[in-house]
Amino acid sequence: MGVFISVMVASIRSQHLLFEIGISGQRTSQAVNHNPSETLGTNDDGSDSEPSIVDDILDGERKTVFEDKQLVDSNTIVDHNRIYGRDEQLAAEARAFRDTLDGERPPDLLLYGPSGTGKTLTVKAVAEKVKDRALQNSIDFDFVAVNFKTMESHSLDRAVWKLGYQTAEKAGVAWDIPRKGVSTDAKYVRLYEIVDRHFDALVFILDEIDTLTGHAGADEPAYSRLLYSLSRVMAEQHVDTLVSTVVITNHPKFRENLDSRTDSSYNPTGIHFSDYDANELIEILNRRRDAFKDGALDEGVVELVAAYGAKNEGDARRAIDLLRDAGEIANRNGETVVTEQHVHAANDSVVKNRVLEIVGGMSLQKKLSLYAAAIVADVSDGTAPSPAVYTLYREICQRSDRDVYTQETVNSHINKAGTYGVLESERTSDGFKSGVHLVFAFTEPVDAVIETLEEDDVFDDIELATVRSIARRALRNT
Ligand SMILES: Nc1ncnc2c1ncn2[C@@H]1O[C@H](COP(=O)(O)OP(=O)(O)OP(=O)(O)O)[C@@H](O)[C@H]1O
Ligand SMILES: [Mg+2]
Repeated sequence: MGVFISVMVASIRSQHLLFEIGISGQRTSQAVNHNPSETLGTNDDGSDSEPSIVDDILDGERKTVFEDKQLVDSNTIVDHNRIYGRDEQLAAEARAFRDTLDGERPPDLLLYGPSGTGKTLTVKAVAEKVKDRALQNSIDFDFVAVNFKTMESHSLDRAVWKLGYQTAEKAGVAWDIPRKGVSTDAKYVRLYEIVDRHFDALVFILDEIDTLTGHAGADEPAYSRLLYSLSRVMAEQHVDTLVSTVVITNHPKFRENLDSRTDSSYNPTGIHFSDYDANELIEILNRRRDAFKDGALDEGVVELVAAYGAKNEGDARRAIDLLRDAGEIANRNGETVVTEQHVHAANDSVVKNRVLEIVGGMSLQKKLSLYAAAIVADVSDGTAPSPAVYTLYREICQRSDRDVYTQETVNSHINKAGTYGVLESERTSDGFKSGVHLVFAFTEPVDAVIETLEEDDVFDDIELATVRSIARRALRNT
């Protein structure tokens, strides 16, 4: 019976396929007909047009594995019932914000921890809820969230302008201050005027604040000056509004660079966010299964995504993005169920894109150096000792008639790639004749690094098998 059904399904599928071919075949034959008025489609306005692939997609039935794709968009602020395992942090945030409902200034908060651990999500979710409560109690409460990393300029002036712009938007008034030609002080004044006039309580959520460094060479980073102003606004600017700040950062050490004046007036309550393990990621992803249609997630898919996520520094954003990407791949293939294969494919392309972002803009010499390191790591145990890397690098350059740089320069080129997260290096004197040297260990999959580098034309005349055998010989001789 099972066989019979699958044969039937197969034949229905192929009939479908034939049907589709039939349609396109018909179109082709029409296209060669010499009387265009009989063959081409006629639009409502009487103009002639040929049905295009775009029309086919736009007019065709929409096949998708998603029921509510927003739920797997990592920018969506999801409801409390979808937030897993952050009760302690949510409670601390709620306790702080609660003060505004009682007419008191909430304490400043400092949320810190690695990427994708729920800092932005939890604070926005709590702030939204407090806003609802405040509304019921006729309190004008709001929050203004600015991510300084996404600003084109990291000056104080630009930051104050942006805070003003967004505060005015929340207040429903025009922000009439141009970006340039008005002093930073004047921008502050207008900002605090709006704050005072339109809000009983206002929280500034200052995301990725450590990127607000300001001008190089300034004696105090821009974020220090901003925090100083915001923490003194009620006292010094005659503002009656209860103003407080939530600072979000991956680098709590930024506090060491605060000016002593700022440091003494800014005393935030710290809330720590740790990274997630695979089980926690499963819980988080399980609460978003309804992003997909019933039955559209194959068994094991969530677990596999969580496993990749746990390997990727326990970052929930990356896990959610990977689940969505897997769904997109299923859609693109016209399939109705997301499988583990789609997850693997999505992960491969994420890794390749990440590597491409890093190595894409590298200079030729840096690419050659990194390539040599990757080949050596690939033929050994995943790590590459610098003497063997240099031997291979030199041979590649000589064979392709290129300048040969010193070992020191090559090491430094490779270490540059390390600062972007492709590899790590360690100094050692173990195991090789050449004394103290560096050992490079790749943190991104070596094959992805090699494949990505090889997309550059420079590597067209370099034979993979040859360089691999040179690398093996270099490893034996160093
Ligand atoms: N505990 C959780 N429960 C449900 N979803 C979560 C949880 N933690 C994080 N997420 C989701 O993961 C993604 C990243 O979270 P969020 O933006 O809050 O990270 P973050 O800590 O602010 O990271 P970054 O430092 O990179 O800005 C979001 O889509 C968020 O909804
Ligand atoms: Mg964030």
